[in-house]
Amino acid sequence: MSFEPKSPVVKWVDSRLPIIGMMHHALYDYPTPKNLSYWWTFGSLAGFMLVVQIVTGIVLSMHYTPHVDLAFNSVEHIMRDVNYGWLIRYMHANGAQCSLLSCICIFSGAFTMAPTRHHVNCCGGWVWSSSF
Ligand code: HEM
Repeated sequence: MSFEPKSPVVKWVDSRLPIIGMMHHALYDYPTPKNLSYWWTFGSLAGFMLVVQIVTGIVLSMHYTPHVDLAFNSVEHIMRDVNYGWLIRYMHANGAQCSLLSCICIFSGAFTMAPTRHHVNCCGGWVWSSSF
């Protein structure tokens, strides 16, 4: 089914840059399996958080000194002197919790609840989530 905008503004934008029609096609028209639920979105969230951890981690490594006498001062340096160092460190520290939370959501949702709903053996799901 093709996208036919009702609003003249959307029509004007979409005829020049068909981004709204493209989103409509991807999010509404495109057929997806019936068993896809919001639990599956945590997979891409976990992937995104991993990228955030890697990028902020690399920036932190540029200023961090892994030495028993120097580590504290290097973290103080990150917080006080490095441009937006405080933001990068807090993104990394809080991002770690978000990564873990999204992993817990994936494993508790996709691997445990979803198979039970379809009467499939869910033992594998419990083994996976317990290992986390
Ligand atoms: C899943 C991936 C990662 C997780 C969950 C994670 C988690 C953490 C946590 C919890 C801390 C302590 C934060 C604090 O209280 O200050 C930390 C510190 C640090 N991480 Fe990561 N990290 C990850 C990936 C990386 C990567 C890929 C790098 C570098 C290439 C990195 C570099 C660092 C550095 C240099 C520190 C010390 C600086 C600081 O304490 O703020 N991390 N990380």
